[in-house]
Amino acid sequence: MAQVDCVAEGIYRISVQAWGFPITLNQFLIEDEHPALIHTGTFPIYEEVRNAVAEVLDPARLAYVVVPHFESDECGGMGRFIEDAPQSTLVCSEAGAALNLSGWDYSGPVRGVREGETLELGAHTLRFIETPHVHHWDSMMVVEETTKSLFPADLFIQPGDQPPVVREDLSREMCALYREAGIFGAKEPVLQVVDQLEKENLEWIHPMHGGSLPGEVHAKYIRALRKEPFAYEGKIFGRQLFG
Ligand SMILES: [Fe+2]
Ligand SMILES: [Fe+2]
Repeated sequence: MAQVDCVAEGIYRISVQAWGFPITLNQFLIEDEHPALIHTGTFPIYEEVRNAVAEVLDPARLAYVVVPHFESDECGGMGRFIEDAPQSTLVCSEAGAALNLSGWDYSGPVRGVREGETLELGAHTLRFIETPHVHHWDSMMVVEETTKSLFPADLFIQPGDQPPVVREDLSREMCALYREAGIFGAKEPVLQVVDQLEKENLEWIHPMHGGSLPGEVHAKYIRALRKEPFAYEGKIFGRQLFG
């Protein structure tokens, strides 16, 4: 069953264990006049995530479903969440909309966003950062301005079953997981984004896998990304292909 925890003002982490990998799968719900769900979870866990959303608000009230990149854990439930919330719009990067929605069977409303565009939810404001090639060509991240929260999808993840808030330094484990799984093609696009994120003075980072990181631990994770190898070394999920 999904675990629901309030991790910042009006921001709820919906964490699910049902996943074939040793990581949690987190969705983030922002309760506001125009509520937003960031990541949907995979298609099979739709009911579980929807029930968890319903603990906080009526899922039919969702105004935005935000997909930072198109991979099943980030977007598997998007069609049904949008269908079940008549006023809702799918929000993704402009590149993601062009690359991933124009040729599939998704026919709901879409807003493709560019760097710096914002979305008013009421008390909260979302701002979008284009982060191409940080994991996917069309990737973006989301900043929530009032809580100074970052939603980086698969950057800053920690392996294992983590509590809602993590103060521990699990940055070595993070880099080891990235090398084994092979999710970042190269380090340069990631490090460019890390430089940009550091200037944001974030109070929270809410990764999609693991626990939310409060401001005092960000530097450790950023340092590890700059010092430790983490990019693709020829391995996919621990299976050596090249090198
Ligand atoms: Fe991903
Ligand atoms: Fe993910």
